[in-house]
Order: sequence, then structure tokens, then C-alpha cells
Amino acid sequence: MKTIFSGIQPSGIPTIGNYIGAMKQFVQLQDDYQCYFCIVDEHAITVPQDRLKLREQILQLAALYIAVGIDPKKATIFIQSEVSAHAEAAWIVQCNIPLGELERMTQFKDKSQKTGRTSVNAGLLTYPPLMVADIILYNSNLVPVGEDQKQHLELTRDFVDRFNSRYGTPKQPILVSPEVKIAKKDSGGRVMSLQEPTKKMSKSDTNRKGFISMLDEPDVIRKKIKSAVTDSSGIIEYDPDNKPGISNLLVIYSAMSDLPISDITAKYHDSGYAEFKADLAEVVVNKLEPIQTHYKELLVSDELQTILDDGAIDAQKVADRTLQKMRNAVGLGRKPKR
Ligand code: TYM
Repeated sequence: MKTIFSGIQPSGIPTIGNYIGAMKQFVQLQDDYQCYFCIVDEHAITVPQDRLKLREQILQLAALYIAVGIDPKKATIFIQSEVSAHAEAAWIVQCNIPLGELERMTQFKDKSQKTGRTSVNAGLLTYPPLMVADIILYNSNLVPVGEDQKQHLELTRDFVDRFNSRYGTPKQPILVSPEVKIAKKDSGGRVMSLQEPTKKMSKSDTNRKGFISMLDEPDVIRKKIKSAVTDSSGIIEYDPDNKPGISNLLVIYSAMSDLPISDITAKYHDSGYAEFKADLAEVVVNKLEPIQTHYKELLVSDELQTILDDGAIDAQKVADRTLQKMRNAVGLGRKPKR
């Protein structure tokens, strides 16, 4: 069975962008792959976090993983910082990646330009090597992510090639090179902000009207969709270049109802934006309500703690094996005893 790894930062409550671009794919893939789904808390501290809130968000994300349909009997769910191999492997990765490659990463460029290069944490620069470590430790063959992570996956593949040619042989590569799996734009690989539809929907957006959180109350969802930015044409059609707002809403409708966009545009051929938006709000509410109910039960259950304990033990076994191979390759420590 091939292996999948993916992760989400507990840096806030996931949005429907995280759900459509990542979590929904996780649920679909868990039957056919050996899956590791991680709560990447070490990534979250690249920017300052309130410690108590972070702890809360870690558990919230774990409960949401299960509430959306990830089955802990099929997939391993765990917290990154509870498997120490991640931070250790990340150091070896950092020592084998040219600085220039990290400085070219769009996320680093964007964030460091906003805040000023000298004041951002070094972790923001060395965050992609940690992501590389996450992926390679599980010998991952496939990584399902949203479109914004594509560049990090390319970096991972380049790293694996370099590491294997430096320390392995063509017949005996040390690390596995992962394929990336990104949903197409019209299937939600990049869900856009409701307020600025040319910008990615993000859980850290300061304008809360720009995103729908997985835990938003029905009335909040209705209001946010009602106030979503569209255009003045009033025609419901998928044209992301010229009509990004309504196109984004069509993508959300399609992903949340599993109906193709063409069926939706046919259904609303004679309708206006107000009617479409009102129906979309109900589609989103109906999708999220059962998830939210299950989430609330899980959050206070002992079951969640057991799942995370077991997950960390399972993950650690696999991760430690790869880490040992990496340590041997670069010559760290003493020769392991037979
Ligand atoms: P994060 O926490 O920002 O996002 C988690 C996942 O959600 C996807 N995503 C989106 N997809 C579609 N539309 C959007 N608006 C949208 N916003 C977010 C992201 O692409 C991602 O798949 N660095 C990663 C976490 C990570 C990881 C990994 C992922 C750490 N290690 C190893 C895969 C493999 C991140 O910050 O994701």
C-alpha cells in the first residue's frame, strides 16, 4: 500500500478552504493509502502564538480531523511535536538545502516583506525544511495539499534527489520522492477570500468576513455568504479570470454539494445572485452542521486523547526508522549496534 502524509497548522480554526483543498481529499484517500495526518504545531510557532490558545487549537484540529470523517482505525492522526524525529530530521534537511532556495519561497518573501526581513523569526525561513522532514520521514508517496503548498513540494522533491545522489546510490536511494496531489482550481485547490476573491481564503485573515470557519454558526455563515463580493453582471457563470467572486462561490457550492459546476450553473440559469447565495448558505450549513455536532462530542471525549496517544506511538516507529537512515547517511553519532 502506498503512503500519504499531510498536515494542517493549528494556527486557528480551519476554514472551508482548508476543508475543500485538504481535509476532504484526506477522507477520500484514506481507504486506498496508508495515511498519516498530522497536526503540525511546530509549524504554527513560526509566528507568535498564545500558548493556551495554541494548546486548545491543537485539540480542536484533532477533533475536526475525525469529525470530517478521517477514521483513526484507517489513518494515523498525531501531533507533530510529540514525535521528536520531525525536529531532528529538519536539522539534517536544513544542512543540505542551499539558503537561496529558502529565500526564494513565496511565503517567506511575502511575509518577510510585510513585516520586514530583520524582524521575522528565522523559523519562517527554515519552515520549508521542517515540512520536507515531515514528508520524508514517512516514506510518503503522495501528499494531498492545496495549491499554495506546491512550491514546498517541489522543494521536497529537489531535496530528495540531492540527498539521494549525495549519500545514496542510484540502486539504493535512501529517501522516497513524493508526488503532490492538488485539486484543480475548479475543484477547490485554491478557495478564495469571500471579500477579496483574488486572494486566497486564509484562517489568519484579519477580516473575518473573508473566510468561513469550520466552526462558524449557521447565521454567521449565512451573513458571510450574503456579503460575499461578486460583480454587477448578475449572471451565474464560472469565469475565474473575469468574475472571480461568483466563480469562487460556484467552486464552494460544487465542493460542498458534490455537484459539478455545470449542473449548478444550469440550475441557476434564470436566478439572481441573492437567490444563489441564499441556497449556497444552506448547502454550506447542511454540510457543516453534522461535522460540528460530532466535533463537540469528540472534543470532550477520552477517545480523542487515546487516538492521539496511539497515533504518536505509531508515527514515531516509522519516523525513527527513517531518521536513523538519515543519521547513518550523514554520519551522525556512533555506528548503530547490530
Ligand atoms: P495550512 O495549515 O496553511 O493549510 C492546510 C492545508 O489547507 C490547504 N489550504 C487551502 N486549500 C484550498 N484553498 C485555500 N484557500 C486553502 N488554504 C489552505 C493548504 O494548501 C494545506 O494543504 N505548510 C502547511 C502544513 C504542512 C504540511 C506538511 C502539508 C506542514 N507540513 C507536510 C503537507 C505536508 C500549511 O501551512 O498548511
